[in-house]
Amino acid sequence: MEIRFIKRNNLKVKPTDESTLGFGKYFTDYMFTMRYAPKLGWHDAMIEPNEPIGFELGASIFHYAQGIFEGMKAFRDVNGEINIFRPDENWARMNRSAERMCIPKFPEYVAEEALEKLLELEKDWIPKTPGTALYIRPVIIATRVMLGVHSSTEYLFYIILSPVGSYYAHGLEPTKLIVEDYYTRATIGGTGEAKCLGNYAASMKAGEVAERKGFDQVLWLDAIEKKYIEEVGSMNIFFVIDGEVVTPALVGSILPGITRKSVLHLLRENGYKTSERRISINEVIEAAENGTLTEAFGTGTAAVISPVGLIRYKDKDYTIHNGKMGKITKWLYDSITGIQYGTAEDKYNWIQKIK
Ligand code: COI
Repeated sequence: MEIRFIKRNNLKVKPTDESTLGFGKYFTDYMFTMRYAPKLGWHDAMIEPNEPIGFELGASIFHYAQGIFEGMKAFRDVNGEINIFRPDENWARMNRSAERMCIPKFPEYVAEEALEKLLELEKDWIPKTPGTALYIRPVIIATRVMLGVHSSTEYLFYIILSPVGSYYAHGLEPTKLIVEDYYTRATIGGTGEAKCLGNYAASMKAGEVAERKGFDQVLWLDAIEKKYIEEVGSMNIFFVIDGEVVTPALVGSILPGITRKSVLHLLRENGYKTSERRISINEVIEAAENGTLTEAFGTGTAAVISPVGLIRYKDKDYTIHNGKMGKITKWLYDSITGIQYGTAEDKYNWIQKIK
């Protein structure tokens, strides 16, 4: 498919202080867009100025949230080259989310080519400071104007780019999580394993309550028994219990994270004992009390590897590893970022280079 290009006249002023980038505050000059219509399929691919575009308010995305997204990062590596981390995994997951949300699948080779072209064009936006990156946000939204509750017949696929620092304002300082035992993020048979817009909207109430109490995020439990740990909403969760690195199994209500998958691979390749299984909150609390819970960390594209320093459950606080980053967490952080920034060998071919 041909990708058209529309040039903009005036370029934006780029942020100069990379220490204040934060997460998702700035957006680059250009975006990629592509439309879907029944007779045409995916068509009209173009790179155009990232400027407001108009929609009729009857468009179904504004009513029923039929939309999906992804998150990836482009890194400026130590040799000045541009690396993307496992983009093929993101495109494949996005098409799985599309299937769940009745959105027509898109050709992954077009998305790949579009992203390459967009990054070549926007490479000066990739920040250079260690720990920073250009965040890539591909999205598909339903654009047909209609109020009936049916899947749309028209869609917009877009990719926007944002130079970012750490996801958490406090950087690599261990996060504080509060276990949510009333609200629910997802349930089996629902949309929990799809990266769809509504999952994130549904998580905001609990997130807001948590933040008001001084916590970074919510640790979600399963919807049925309120007993088993699921994820953190913007990251998957891992615990080190009695020397074993454990993470909840992908039972259908948990996002199949790409950093999660990479971490499990690295751990197994390096001889760590790991397991993906049901983990009850009681097991974690018991392990925290008897000293066998030695580390906890979250994984995600935005969050990378984020140490967890404290968990509150039923009004009681449990400090993990004295509120400091543990050894395995640090090793994983160094290993993943080493591959991303080119300071470690890319043994598993996880990096795609951009010219
Ligand atoms: C990511 O890690 O890229 C995510 O999509 C999580 C979040 C920022 C919504």
